[in-house]
Amino acid sequence: MFDNLNQLQRTDYCGNLSSADIGRSATLMGWVHKRRDLGGLIFIDLRDVSGLFQIVIRPESSIFQKAEQLRNEFVIGVSGVVAARDQHNINTKMKTGALELIAEELWLFNDCLPLPIQLNEAAMADEDLRLTYRYLDLRRPALQEILILRHKIVREIREFLSDENFFEIETPILMKSTPEGARDYLVPSRIQPGKFYALPQSPQMFKQLLMIGGFDRYFQIARCFRDEDLRADRQPEFTQLDIELSFCSQEQIFDLLERLMQRLFKNTLDKELTIPFPRLTYQEAMERYGCDKPDLRFSLELKDLTSCLQNCQFQVFQNALASGGVIKALAIPEGGTYSRKRQDELVELAKHQGGKGLAFAKVTDGGLEAGISKYLSAEEAASAIRITEAKPGDLLAIAADSFEMVSKVLAAIRNHVAERHGLIPPDSFEFCWITDFPLFQYNQEEERWEPAHHMFSLPKEEHIPWLDQPDKYGSIIGQLYDMVCNGMELSSGSIRCHRYDLQKKIFDILGFSESELTARFGFFLEALKYGTPPHGGIAPGIDRLVIIMSGAQSIRDVIAFPKTLKATDLMSQAPSEVSELQWKELHLKPGD
Ligand code: AMO
Repeated sequence: MFDNLNQLQRTDYCGNLSSADIGRSATLMGWVHKRRDLGGLIFIDLRDVSGLFQIVIRPESSIFQKAEQLRNEFVIGVSGVVAARDQHNINTKMKTGALELIAEELWLFNDCLPLPIQLNEAAMADEDLRLTYRYLDLRRPALQEILILRHKIVREIREFLSDENFFEIETPILMKSTPEGARDYLVPSRIQPGKFYALPQSPQMFKQLLMIGGFDRYFQIARCFRDEDLRADRQPEFTQLDIELSFCSQEQIFDLLERLMQRLFKNTLDKELTIPFPRLTYQEAMERYGCDKPDLRFSLELKDLTSCLQNCQFQVFQNALASGGVIKALAIPEGGTYSRKRQDELVELAKHQGGKGLAFAKVTDGGLEAGISKYLSAEEAASAIRITEAKPGDLLAIAADSFEMVSKVLAAIRNHVAERHGLIPPDSFEFCWITDFPLFQYNQEEERWEPAHHMFSLPKEEHIPWLDQPDKYGSIIGQLYDMVCNGMELSSGSIRCHRYDLQKKIFDILGFSESELTARFGFFLEALKYGTPPHGGIAPGIDRLVIIMSGAQSIRDVIAFPKTLKATDLMSQAPSEVSELQWKELHLKPGD
């Protein structure tokens, strides 16, 4: 029943034929995307990785009967002559919509069961079913386009960095744990009972060791593994473009990454990015946008009303100020018409962030109205309007709480309002650098200092002496930076501690005991003693970069075989149970 490929050779891809090919023979191969029988003619939309091409089988043709048996997703080869379609049959939505192939020969390579999922974008099945049949879901042109874009991005990265004298070097997957703040995935050792490898959360220590090893400039398209709570922009295994350079400044790293982004956007999307990207310190970003990954596609800045409302009569504000809090507001453009229900939605969103609520006041020509306006004097209302730069018709959304909570609440409201009001211009890419992160943050519950970002980072030059002053730990600014685009953290990096004494002090502040230090980082600390060059680096997340560049809705759409939010591969059913023998060989006991 089925034909063999034998000596048969494909001459063309469906999507690549053009009017220049009219009149010549072509042999195409692919899947029956759709079959229509019309007035004695059979039309087939043939699909391959490059696109669709219409095949026409005439009733007098010797292959007509064979063509009648074709069903969707059957795998075929077809030869014939490329022709122009009749004027009234032209499909302007299809790249090859003005062409067709008048079929002369047809080969059937394989049939196909009725598909458990529709490949039609408009009738997409639920995501779990699509992930179960991922190999079918991957036939959707939209997914193929994203993965092909991903390939082009990675190819551009390799070319760009090779031209900039970087070496691509692989680092181990079975390794000792590198702390990046998440839980490790562990792999038990069969040969050494009771011992485990960790899968890398990132190649951080190895890339620093490569600098000590004299490689000067390294990169790797590195798979990283983190056992953490998953979200729309997180997967348990993901890919970083891991970069490290010796003898470099923060400025050089920014310049390198800006030129890399510029080239990626130009060569894959034909988009011009303006460089250098704007920079904001962490403090500035928190004050103006309430978060360290601000979406700069729209303005909507948070404004501080703490001093303007310090004497106002509203008890909630007074309570917040009495416990050292702040009062901040966002002017929602034309929010004055919001219904009570709409305001309540914002209050719910605030509570969802952990906030206590949100206060409102409408801006009018004469001052503030409704909401909490009755608690404000005319002068206070006027100052609030001036500070928030609000216009008549706007709605002030005001939060009073600790700086952190107010920031969190208003940042969420800011993003929500921008989306609801359509303030986000489509197809725009707004990058920025966030710099000057604190080196440490205090964990109140565990009463200890933690790295705010990264424990291998160098403090700013002028803050190095503060490593010896415990009362200053919280004020130490690190040479740390993030690259953010459209509100998503794309990359993190830092200039590293290349001196043993400084790295040791940082580990001491983080509270590692000598034995713990030796066990976990002994080899690394030792390495720092043997002529470590000043160095620094960065690691853009490739999955997130592809989300931004493709406009994908979720990280699962940019990975060929992704996992669910429960870290499961629905297709292969990983993770899965293993045999008793494997438990035994690995020296593990079920139920432990
Ligand atoms: P960091 O932990 O900030 O830094 O990670 C760098 C970038 O990796 C991406 N990323 C993720 N992407 C998808 N799923 C995840 N679970 C996930 N976690 C992180 C993000 C993030 O910006 N070693 C340092 C980098 C350095 O200092 O050079 C590191 O790993 O895009």
